[in-house]
Amino acid sequence: MSSDAMAEANQRVSAQEARRLLQDILKGNGVSPENAAIVSKCMVAADLRGVDTHGMNRISSYMERVRQGVLNPAAEVTLNQITPVVAQVDAGNGFGFVAAHRGMAAAIEAAKVYGIGMASIKHSNHFGMSAWLVQQAIDSDMMSLVFTNSSPALPVFGGKSKMLGVSPIACGAPGRGKSDFILDMAPSIAARGKIYKAKRRGEKIPLDWALDSEGRPTDDPAAALEGVMLPMGGPKGSALAIMMDVFSGVLSGSAFAGGVTNPYDPSKPANVGHFLVAIKPDLFISMDDFRDRMDHLYQTVVGSDKAAGVERIYFPGEIEKEAQAEREMLGIPLVQAEIDVLNQEAARVNAAGLSIL
Ligand SMILES: NC(=O)c1ccc[n+]([C@@H]2O[C@H](COP(=O)([O-])OP(=O)(O)OC[C@H]3O[C@@H](n4cnc5c(N)ncnc54)[C@H](O)[C@@H]3O)[C@@H](O)[C@H]2O)c1
Repeated sequence: MSSDAMAEANQRVSAQEARRLLQDILKGNGVSPENAAIVSKCMVAADLRGVDTHGMNRISSYMERVRQGVLNPAAEVTLNQITPVVAQVDAGNGFGFVAAHRGMAAAIEAAKVYGIGMASIKHSNHFGMSAWLVQQAIDSDMMSLVFTNSSPALPVFGGKSKMLGVSPIACGAPGRGKSDFILDMAPSIAARGKIYKAKRRGEKIPLDWALDSEGRPTDDPAAALEGVMLPMGGPKGSALAIMMDVFSGVLSGSAFAGGVTNPYDPSKPANVGHFLVAIKPDLFISMDDFRDRMDHLYQTVVGSDKAAGVERIYFPGEIEKEAQAEREMLGIPLVQAEIDVLNQEAARVNAAGLSIL
């Protein structure tokens, strides 16, 4: 088989089957059934939205951390309600998915009563795609801010070595389904997961994504991973990454200033921090008015005059929402090499391999 044919994502699995596989792997590695359900739901949410870089293919890197004893699969999350609207969560070096899910749930409950709720989370791990947290808030009719820090991958503006994380900034607001607003973006030209994915799939990357270890532009994902990612918008991307570190790292008591461990480095705990805010949209106008105004904003944005060569204008989150509708119907596409790794992980705990659609 040629490397091109190997890289083709031509096999599909249902979301339900993907969640089943992840839950079996997680439970086989000491995660409680309840937490395995949360982690698998959040991970497969990324696959469904087309964010393949942060979905089920991450499971083997997470399990490697468990096997090396640097991520506690049975960690107890503790939540300390500091004021009626502020919760401090200690993830206990367990899954970021579990701790962040708990933190957002507390923020939402506070916002229902007081209009706003926030949670600071420390001693956590990578939580994948931020948008699942924005969706958790939208599902409860809440606006949200979702911040996290992450391991060094970007130089600061003017610097040449990795210091800042490619830490996504995410936020959202409920509209009327189609007009839900979900922004979820890394402050780099591309998320580092896209480079891991290209490497996994034997693909090249665009020359403006990263520099190799000698500081030269590269289209080779392996060379890019040895070098640095490039921030978007020069000093602005660098400033946003610093902002994520202020709110998620400095404020929480977790690692910051380049101190978070890369999720693919199983030599020590990650000590990631997150910061979550839920806001009730009907504080100043009715919920119905809010949704109508979101809908108007959506229609105005997607109905804008198009630049030359542009076929369609999208609202933030809309491309992913459409991917989700398609993948819920047709399944999630995977390449054979990805299926092999997932099945190897399943085999380690005597779980059934993926059943392909
Ligand atoms: N947990 C971590 O440490 C970590 C680190 C980096 C990235 N990530 C995740 O990686 C994912 C990918 O991030 P990214 O920056 O590569 O995302 P991206 O560039 O694909 O999208 C960024 C945002 O732009 C919007 N968008 C994209 N194309 C658009 C278009 N044509 N028209 C209108 N809007 C458009 C998307 O809806 C999204 O809100 C995110 O889910 C992020 O949370 C996680």
